[in-house]
Amino acid sequence: MSAPRILATGRCLPERVVTNEELSRTVDTSDQWVFSRTGIHSRHFCTAETGLDLAASAARRAMDRAGMTAADIGVCIAATFTPDHASPSTACLLQRELELGEDTVCFDLNAACAGFLYGLKTAHALLEDAPRPCALVVGAEVISRVMDMTDRNTCVLFGDGAGAAVVRRDEGRSWHTVFGSRGDPASIRVQGPGPVPSAIHMDGKAVFRFAVEVVERSIRQLLAAEGLESVNDLDLVVCHQANARIIDFVAKRLKAREGLFFKNMDRYGNTSAASIPIALDELVEQGRLRPGMRIVTVGFGGGLTWAGALLRW
Ligand code: ACO
Repeated sequence: MSAPRILATGRCLPERVVTNEELSRTVDTSDQWVFSRTGIHSRHFCTAETGLDLAASAARRAMDRAGMTAADIGVCIAATFTPDHASPSTACLLQRELELGEDTVCFDLNAACAGFLYGLKTAHALLEDAPRPCALVVGAEVISRVMDMTDRNTCVLFGDGAGAAVVRRDEGRSWHTVFGSRGDPASIRVQGPGPVPSAIHMDGKAVFRFAVEVVERSIRQLLAAEGLESVNDLDLVVCHQANARIIDFVAKRLKAREGLFFKNMDRYGNTSAASIPIALDELVEQGRLRPGMRIVTVGFGGGLTWAGALLRW
């Protein structure tokens, strides 16, 4: 029996804040429309910052708070669908920035908005025989780079940012996870590098239906695995911050008490793989996430992929 323990977290957002009001000067939208449909008021977009800058800054903060150095890190995973380069990976560039050892297991993974939890599961497995006891799991996205800023259906939804966690393997503890994907080529598609400009294409209603289905089901499966009857037996639920209406819909279906489901998309938008570690970092900073708490976290996104975990903080 073993589970990952998140020792510390960090986050980094680009300096530039873009409000709905600012976007309404270039596309036909309004703060009222965007906020009522999504819970988003503003997001951060990179100007000079790269994805690596955000990832490295978030990772350094997490390592400092954990009291760890490169001498403790044996695994480095970056979850992203918007890396600075197809190759080298963000994780390899992080290795150089953070001066991680040459035998560190470094790679990127793409599970869209579920990426951080795929990274956590993979890091936990790899730590079993890693050269050093800790892993860095980073979610980092520069989604503004792949957005069509003239498409009001998508350009209001996303933001840039990074979140990071330093993770150790704890023997004698348990956790529960659920993972899935649907081989769906169309519901969310991001045009890759090539002659056609990058853009996100999304069937918003299909994604909404998918999200509420798999988030509710994942939480029910995790509760059953832990032998809990109600979501209110948990201390916190931290979902991918795509959209407040998805979270509110699931919270209502599960009859959750007020405030159990965390939300911070109002200031960040949907930062994909970065959203869960950014949320965890804010919760720690606010003193709302304390050792021993039992939490559920669920991600969902392109692929269509999803992932959930029930763990002790
Ligand atoms: N401002 C004003 N009007 C808009 C905007 C906008 N930004 N975007 C769309 N509209 C218009 C549409 O053109 C449409 O107009 P029409 O009726 O004249 O054709 C009208 O608003 C209604 O559009 P819908 O798509 O039906 O709006 P809906 O209520 O479904 O909300 C939304 C759209 C917010 C995208 C919703 O479907 C949703 O939340 N889906 C989930 C999307 C999501 O969370 N994706 C990310 C998860 S996965 C990942 O993270 C990669």
